[in-house]
Amino acid sequence: MSGFIDIIEKKRDKGKLTKEEIQYFIDGYVAGEIPDYQVSALLMAIYLNGCDSEETYELTMAMARSGDIMDLSDIPGIKVDKHSTGGVGDKVTLIVAPIAASCGVPTAKMSGRGLGFTGGTIDKLESIPNFSVTLSEEDFISQVKNTGYALIGQSKDLAPADKLLYALRDVTGTVGCAPLIASSIMSKKIAAGSDAIVLEVTHGTGAFMKDEESAVELARIMMDIGRRAGLKMTAVITDMNEPLGHAIGNSVEVIEAIEALKGRADEDVMEVMKEIIPDMIIAGERATSKEEAWKMATEVIESGKALECFKKMIEAQHGDPMVTEDYGRFKSAPLTTGVHAQSDGYLRVKSCAGIGECVKILGGGRVTKEQEIDLSVGLCMKKKNGDSVKKGDLLCEIYSLNEETANEASKQFLSSVSVVDEKPEKARLIYTLDE
Ligand code: URA
Repeated sequence: MSGFIDIIEKKRDKGKLTKEEIQYFIDGYVAGEIPDYQVSALLMAIYLNGCDSEETYELTMAMARSGDIMDLSDIPGIKVDKHSTGGVGDKVTLIVAPIAASCGVPTAKMSGRGLGFTGGTIDKLESIPNFSVTLSEEDFISQVKNTGYALIGQSKDLAPADKLLYALRDVTGTVGCAPLIASSIMSKKIAAGSDAIVLEVTHGTGAFMKDEESAVELARIMMDIGRRAGLKMTAVITDMNEPLGHAIGNSVEVIEAIEALKGRADEDVMEVMKEIIPDMIIAGERATSKEEAWKMATEVIESGKALECFKKMIEAQHGDPMVTEDYGRFKSAPLTTGVHAQSDGYLRVKSCAGIGECVKILGGGRVTKEQEIDLSVGLCMKKKNGDSVKKGDLLCEIYSLNEETANEASKQFLSSVSVVDEKPEKARLIYTLDE
């Protein structure tokens, strides 16, 4: 085995790293034997020269093996995970997991917290009084067996190499690199132990990938890694140029998700549900066509079975299931402020991330990973991209802790949208990627 400097030089000169070299890199870095400055140099060489599919797979597997790999084999059936690369107002996991579970697809899901302009499912769930996002591996497995699904935060021992590398990438300008993003995400998914993964890869002003082409490239790399690892993979590409649904924040998004489980989803949320839920049901081998799967999903929504499943999950994780009937049980922000249109025309969302930033200003989103956030603040959009507006119309309602943050968030909202003369395209393109 060559020394680490040889590995850096090899990648610098566009060489292909072997499985052994990649394993040596990950083992040495996790053990603290290779310093940050050398790993930074290798990351930059990868950023500039890329990795082929074999190297990306080996990197992913070495990262996955750096910690615990969940063994879900005690749970009968095909365990399906769903992962989104993130967005604004993205409450999809809260909706699709109980629906898929009610259709007989065991869903053992680990989710993350929000950072920057994107929200995180785990923060959203914590807005349910007393809800616990931590379960032992044993309790996690037995809950999936008993209620069909469990939704918890990622355990500390899941892919620790990724945690170290992500922190280093963040300060060395090496985050935005498809093989590094794909290996980072997939190492955690593989370690989480499901048999099938439905990926949602977003693009646009509210997403990590700014254009559709890069979203498709990232999706294809992740599917390749998953398939090499023996998992069933499906990828859905979603436009994130405006927030999904109308609520953006933590408790407000849980309320919107509950409404969707009661059959009252916004049009765009419904579009996403219609694509992702059938993909999950098909991956779990409970249906063979999208039509059959969607019919099953509609039945569990209409019968109340999906909502019941969500309530059971809340109860099993020590939360208050009655929030689903009485939204007053969520902690509410003391101040509601309306933001109004300043002219006639059509609403155009200029920056979806800019709207996500409003939640951060209100104290409901993080600037650093350690920051405490308030789960009651947020906003509800009353008009969406392409809607016609008249001067004075209510564009959105802001829920804040005080007037100062409400004013700042209002300004931020108004700078993220404009009222234009020509009706903008109402584009929410969502499609499952061809094999
Ligand atoms: N999410 C991850 O988990 N890793 C990345 O590199 C980017 C987004």
